[in-house]
Amino acid sequence: MAIIAPSILSADFYELGKQIQQIERGGAGLIHFDVMDGLFVPNISFGAPVLRSLETKTELRFDIHLMIEDPGKLIPNYIGPKTEYIVVHQEACLHLHRVLQQIRQVGIKAGVALNPATPVSTLECVLEDVDLVCVMGVNPGFGGQRFIPQSRRKVEQLDRIRRERDLDFKIELDGGVTFDNALGIKQAGCDILVAGSAVFSCPDIEVATRKFAKMLK
Ligand code: DX5
Ligand code: ZN
Repeated sequence: MAIIAPSILSADFYELGKQIQQIERGGAGLIHFDVMDGLFVPNISFGAPVLRSLETKTELRFDIHLMIEDPGKLIPNYIGPKTEYIVVHQEACLHLHRVLQQIRQVGIKAGVALNPATPVSTLECVLEDVDLVCVMGVNPGFGGQRFIPQSRRKVEQLDRIRRERDLDFKIELDGGVTFDNALGIKQAGCDILVAGSAVFSCPDIEVATRKFAKMLK
């Protein structure tokens, strides 16, 4: 079984509260937060205040994707009662092992994300220390981009390594997920599919979320 984690990057911020209720009713497994600093990626999104305002308003737990430089410095801001995962980029961490430890030490699950050009092999020494590996299906920075098909192979590779080494980290695929490719991504071994535009650009967000949730069951 896999779950759908809608990314609120593609939400209508005027309607955010209402749209969160819609994804919750539709069966979303997590809320995905795309935090961007304009440095690690060529775009700025939102930060911890958005998390704070949703923390008491939903039962869903948060999957926080930090697309920021030197994420270790800001991790304390993203710790909260609903935080399930904090995901940092391999490419943004000079001391990746330390940052992952920093997240786990406060009782939060630690994730690491890989840009499309970064091979799975770069994680060889930290796979025991992560709860989640996030494979980017697009170059991070923007919603609504086209899925890069090689990403699916990375999911397969991670799933194979996970079985060979008897590890239990989750595999997430973020970016470019559509109704057409979601099942194939799940079959490759993915546990958490992140979808932004495919959920929030639908006229009925609840129906779109439910369609993904059913497909991934
Ligand atoms: C990309 C983000 C993704 C993105 C997903 O930088 O990390 O979470 O918003 O959006 P879609 O599903 O539209 O590719
Ligand atoms: Zn993301």
